Amino acid sequence: MAGAPRSFLLFLLLVSQPRDTSPATSHCSPKRVNGILGESVVLPLDYEKMFKSIRWSAPSPRQDEASGRTVPLAVVTPGAPGALPRLAVEDERYRGRLRLYGRTYSLEISNLTMADEGEYEVVQTLIAYNQYGCDYPLSIYKRLSEPEIRVHPVMAGNGTCNVTFTCSAGERPRHLNYTWTRPAGGAVLSTEVSLLVQHRLGDEDSPITCTATNPVSHSSASASPKVACEGPAPPQTPALSYCRAKGILVLGVLGALLAGILTVHVLAARERRRP
Ligand SMILES: *[C@@H]1O[C@H](CO)[C@@H](O)[C@H](O)[C@H]1NC(C)=O
Ligand SMILES: *[C@@H]1O[C@H](CO)[C@@H](O)[C@H](O)[C@H]1NC(C)=O
Ligand SMILES: *[C@@H]1O[C@H](CO)[C@@H](O)[C@H](O)[C@H]1NC(C)=O
Ligand SMILES: *[C@@H]1O[C@H](CO)[C@@H](O)[C@H](O)[C@H]1NC(C)=O
Repeated sequence: MAGAPRSFLLFLLLVSQPRDTSPATSHCSPKRVNGILGESVVLPLDYEKMFKSIRWSAPSPRQDEASGRTVPLAVVTPGAPGALPRLAVEDERYRGRLRLYGRTYSLEISNLTMADEGEYEVVQTLIAYNQYGCDYPLSIYKRLSEPEIRVHPVMAGNGTCNVTFTCSAGERPRHLNYTWTRPAGGAVLSTEVSLLVQHRLGDEDSPITCTATNPVSHSSASASPKVACEGPAPPQTPALSYCRAKGILVLGVLGALLAGILTVHVLAARERRRP
């Protein structure tokens, strides 16, 4: 990875050395940037006050029909003293979507589409007549919505059910990682797209959670092996709930105590009335 820019730098040094008039270019190591589909991204550029121009190039530059020259993405030139620099957007695919970020010379691209993915380049020509170049490989990802979990139960005999859960978050698979946990946020069961769970019919439920992660977001969903194997729980008949049963028991005990105390008092009173 680091070899390419270094050899490029060497190449530039070799071609620039014999001719005194050509500018010396220094190159940074590529700055990887992640963007979110439909949102904005900033290509950071170190602040250099004394520049003549900053020329940005898009991943697949357009060719000008008439002149045959490549059209830059945008060109930044210094403004009048005290004024803001001027940004000229030359590539019509980016019209209305570019601006300088804050009060810097970093470039902000908004309303990102998948077509914006690729390697951007900046070449900054300084007053001192040397150049500074940098590459920005830009990757675009979707902000993940809640994943969908598909279930595939198979009765394995002996009151056991093998249920396969498959998680899908609608992103390109190579841009996703899946993590299965039980309980949510607990021990990791698997990092595959599918998970096999064995559920014994009649056992307690023990839901599993799938979390889909990409470099810009993550999202989770849960599913129940018991429901997958036994179907949804039947509607509860209005049976005594545990709490209500406990309450009635406590009332019963209190009532019995009260009755006992009263009986003892009444008996004691009769005892005293006896001559
Ligand atoms: C960018 O997206 C916003 C909101 O989705 C929209 O209103 C605006 O027109 C878009 N701008 C461009 C240049 O596509
Ligand atoms: C159920 O899963 C177990 C454990 O992975 C496996 O040995 C068995 O063959 C499976 N049974 C069926 C019917 O898929
Ligand atoms: C089914 O259960 C019985 C008793 O628990 C056991 O002996 C037998 O090996 C089990 N068979 C399978 C296929 O798991
Ligand atoms: C998936 O996880 C691996 C290992 O943790 C990591 O190297 C990779 O960048 C992750 N991929 C995504 C798309 O998040």
